[in-house]
Amino acid sequence: MATRVLIGGQWGDEGKGKIVDVLTEDAQLIARFQGGNNAGHTVEIGEKKFVLHLIPSGILREGKVCILGNGVVVDPLGLIEEILEVQSRGVETSGRFFVSERAHMVFPYHCRQDAGAENLAAESEKIGTTRRGIGPAYMDKADRKGLRVGDLLAPDLKSLLREKLARRNVRLEALGVESLDIEAVVAQYVDAATFLKPYIADTVTMLNDAIAGGQKVLFEGAQGTMLDIDHGSYPFVTSSNATAGGACTGTGVPPQRIEEVVGVCKAYTTRVGEGPFPTELHDETGARIAEIGAEFGATTGRPRRCGWFDAVVGRYAVMVNGIDWWALTKMDVLDSFETINISIGYELDGEHIQHMPARIEDFSRCVPVYEELPGWHCSTKDVKRYEDLPNAAKAYIDRLEELTGARVGIVSVGPRRSETMFRDVPRETASV
Ligand code: IMP
Repeated sequence: MATRVLIGGQWGDEGKGKIVDVLTEDAQLIARFQGGNNAGHTVEIGEKKFVLHLIPSGILREGKVCILGNGVVVDPLGLIEEILEVQSRGVETSGRFFVSERAHMVFPYHCRQDAGAENLAAESEKIGTTRRGIGPAYMDKADRKGLRVGDLLAPDLKSLLREKLARRNVRLEALGVESLDIEAVVAQYVDAATFLKPYIADTVTMLNDAIAGGQKVLFEGAQGTMLDIDHGSYPFVTSSNATAGGACTGTGVPPQRIEEVVGVCKAYTTRVGEGPFPTELHDETGARIAEIGAEFGATTGRPRRCGWFDAVVGRYAVMVNGIDWWALTKMDVLDSFETINISIGYELDGEHIQHMPARIEDFSRCVPVYEELPGWHCSTKDVKRYEDLPNAAKAYIDRLEELTGARVGIVSVGPRRSETMFRDVPRETASV
């Protein structure tokens, strides 16, 4: 498989980092295509634990080339911290990490604007953002007022920054937010430009040339389908296209070059931030899932809201992404549950529906219709082969496949590479 897009099939935090790490074995290049340092991927290798926000986790595999595509919004200061962090753990970044010159930059004013807007919003309008300036950075991009990574190479960078910062300070004052010390920020970004210069590249040509030359590329999505700006639970979404189409617009690789789409979903559902979540459990069962699954955000540390698997979401994700197969994560978290529910549809104003309502007012009134399945009451942690899973676990997976319309190709029962089962996945991956 020369090109593979990997996306989240739920509300983010599906465990994509680990699956990307496992599938990276098959690829020479790994490219992020959207989002920014709102994402957080936790990867465990041996005793080492890494949380990466911007740099694709492929950087941890020797010899792989990692790219931040044009669709990503890059906080240069955060990126430098991350480069230094991976370097301090012995990871080489030189010549194997590149940032698109077309990627827009995040500035401290975006973060302040993000926080200011959230603070000012009426309770019902708060999104619960990560406050990393993501929405405001994409606003500037759409408004054609942004600065891009390539601008760091401009000979008049200082004046470009001064002009932009002065305008943005006016906006911050209007929000009642403290304005920025312009000269301090200019100095930081000028230093950042010097540091990042060797990493700035024409990644569009790089990726297309690599594919034309027969290299294998893994496109790594951040967040998830239900957080996609167009297809998610708008307005409780992030500001980018987290669905598979984003891989094309966010890297400059045309659609006919994409060969396979892999969806990642948890065996249950979680979400952080505000917004409707039909299968959310407010009871002891929800608290048990959160505790066993250690459900706290990798970026903000916020507790995640937990609930049962929602097959309406799964089916919808298969449709809008063209998911060829699922990587099902955190299956082991359900090991001790007596019975397990799956939402097979919604009840909306007395009607049974199977589709995803577009209007948030409708989505928030959806009541899940559950099908109850027996639990398997034993540990799956040490199971190495799919065939050796308990029958009830296999029956649960069969039902998820039937309801969502896509095969489960990988089952993950823990954070480590070794805690991964392969099934019907091309042989190159099965050898991992
Ligand atoms: P923003 O992306 O910071 O603007 O936040 C918008 C919404 O997306 C909020 O509900 C966040 O909690 C959610 N979000 C953003 N990034 C992630 C992620 O990586 N995982 C899960 N939720 C996320």
